[in-house]
Amino acid sequence: MGLDLLVASSGAEFEQLAATAIVRAVRAACTRAGAMPYTTEAGGVLTTPRTECRRQVTVALPTGSTPLGAYRVLTRGPQVLPWNQVIVVALDEYVGLTQADPNSFTRQLKLAIVDRLPFAGFLSIDGAAPDPAIEAARHQSAIDARGGLDVAVLGVGDNGHIAFNEPGSDIASPTRVVELDERTRQANAGRFRGIGNVPSRAITVGIEPLLGAWQVVVLVAGAAKQPALRALLDGSHDQRLPVTALGSHPHLTVVVATDASTAIPATACRDPLANPPGLS
Ligand code: GLP
Repeated sequence: MGLDLLVASSGAEFEQLAATAIVRAVRAACTRAGAMPYTTEAGGVLTTPRTECRRQVTVALPTGSTPLGAYRVLTRGPQVLPWNQVIVVALDEYVGLTQADPNSFTRQLKLAIVDRLPFAGFLSIDGAAPDPAIEAARHQSAIDARGGLDVAVLGVGDNGHIAFNEPGSDIASPTRVVELDERTRQANAGRFRGIGNVPSRAITVGIEPLLGAWQVVVLVAGAAKQPALRALLDGSHDQRLPVTALGSHPHLTVVVATDASTAIPATACRDPLANPPGLS
């Protein structure tokens, strides 16, 4: 499989490696779309695309705690990408939450990164839409209208979910309304001040459109993710752990934090410091 595995040895390194993996994937997609800026001989970054931009690039970004450090690096560091050619795509949202709700993923994504960089647009999901199934179809149509996903950056749930594709999700599952797994609701009970307040349904981008992304970046942090990571690196698809659907993706980068890294067989590990990827 086309797997690039980056293992961090500290929290700070995880943030840096995760940001670097996102930059590399988005840069490759921008270059492919004719939207990449070029640098002067002195190394200064120009914002003018090398060629006229053929199309904008779609990048799905996750919520949750895992990507927050990388988002800080991306929003504070020197800007090396033509963000104004990038459309951010929401991966999932709780049914019933408005964008004003502190637990709304749309709100969290806006605060963490969308409102902090000059993106070309943001395809969000309205959790409070009157008909969630219609909203799911509308979101997929908006993605399709832009040619599908160029890059999918994903976190992983404790139960192995990606976006809100819960255990049992089919590899061909479309963007849809899902019932949340009990383990997911428990994991989020603290944020909602009690499991009774956690919505029972969500809208999620499906596994099929995620697999259709040209580049996939998976960020894994937290000891609870070890079984899912181990199964992903095993390479065989297990519907009980949806993240394993990505194992056969031709352009897959997995970035692992120290607390999840004991799941990695020594043979699968390469030392990122041996060839440190730069942000520029
Ligand atoms: C959430 C979201 C996922 C996210 C995952 C991991 O419930 N549905 O999109 O990637 O769980 O969250 P965390 O990074 O906080 O562990």
